[in-house]
Amino acid sequence: MNRILIVGASGLVGSNLAVALREDQCVYGTYDKHKPNLAGVPLFKVDVLKESALFDVITLVRPNIVYYCAAVRDEQTCSEHPLPALTINAEAAADIALCLRPLGGRLIYFSTSKVYSGQKGNYTEDDPTDPSSSYGEAKRRAEDLLLEFENTFVLRLGTLYGFDCIPDRSLLSKLVKALIARKEMTFIKDETRDFHSLTEVIEASKRLLHAADDKSGLYNCPSPGKTTYYDFARHLAHAINVPTENITAISGEDLRAPYNTPELRGKDTTLNGEKFTRSFGLLTGSLTESLTKIADQLRTGLT
Ligand SMILES: NC(=O)c1ccc[n+]([C@@H]2O[C@H](COP(=O)([O-])OP(=O)(O)OC[C@H]3O[C@@H](n4cnc5c(N)ncnc54)[C@H](OP(=O)(O)O)[C@@H]3O)[C@@H](O)[C@H]2O)c1
Repeated sequence: MNRILIVGASGLVGSNLAVALREDQCVYGTYDKHKPNLAGVPLFKVDVLKESALFDVITLVRPNIVYYCAAVRDEQTCSEHPLPALTINAEAAADIALCLRPLGGRLIYFSTSKVYSGQKGNYTEDDPTDPSSSYGEAKRRAEDLLLEFENTFVLRLGTLYGFDCIPDRSLLSKLVKALIARKEMTFIKDETRDFHSLTEVIEASKRLLHAADDKSGLYNCPSPGKTTYYDFARHLAHAINVPTENITAISGEDLRAPYNTPELRGKDTTLNGEKFTRSFGLLTGSLTESLTKIADQLRTGLT
């Protein structure tokens, strides 16, 4: 059985990973501001900006696997507070990789398609990065630091959807609520993104857990859901059986919010997941199947 430490077990990815892994692995987690309710997962309060706190936990837990899920994803926070954002998004993860090396441990880190500006789309792992946001810049720095380590796997993700350990916090919960309430909503119709269900992300993360050491490196997570926010919202509405007439389309060019200008938004940030599939096999499921599962979860109250 692996001894797994999830740094950021209170976030969307970390909490879902903890629930998925705790059945057959020895799982520990950290949180900072939000203590999650994760039965069977011992939790430690750790602010990665306070260096010793994280190392105290690593010394205590002695994990052979660390999933690093701590992040500052908000673009405004990253651009207004670049140094702490860089520490949380990149440098603390590299410190862990260094610390795990003599223990023979493995770090699994989640990166983002936002390391690309989105001018091209279908990016492979060999395409040079060119982020156009502070968040993307910090994640690129993380990739550059982490890929120096032979004990590190980096999994790039697009846009995630799924339910969070804290009710109503995830974007999906908010979107479902708004659709059911028939709220007027506007979504971009001319920018393509990879939409990954959390189920796919968890499955991909498990494959990296079991991968041979010599497969370490950078992988794009394959996605069966390459679409726009507008079409995603419409597919979701169909899946949960609510009307779509309150969903209207807008062009990304027309969106003018302080940190969401067309310059920062890429037309197509989709990732090519062939390297992952070649190395670790197909991730099954289509967007429609995943959204049907979400609808089932809502019906049965398992959100
Ligand atoms: N969600 C997406 O659509 C998406 C897309 C692409 C890539 N990713 C990547 O996937 C990973 C997980 O993202 P996520 O969506 O799960 O993020 P999230 O829900 O925003 O969670 C962020 C986590 O980071 C923790 N954290 C923040 N500041 C911290 C600090 N100073 N010290 C310790 N922990 C701190 C938070 O703890 P508290 O809440 O307890 O403060 C929380 O557990 C990240 O690397 C992200 O870049 C996510």
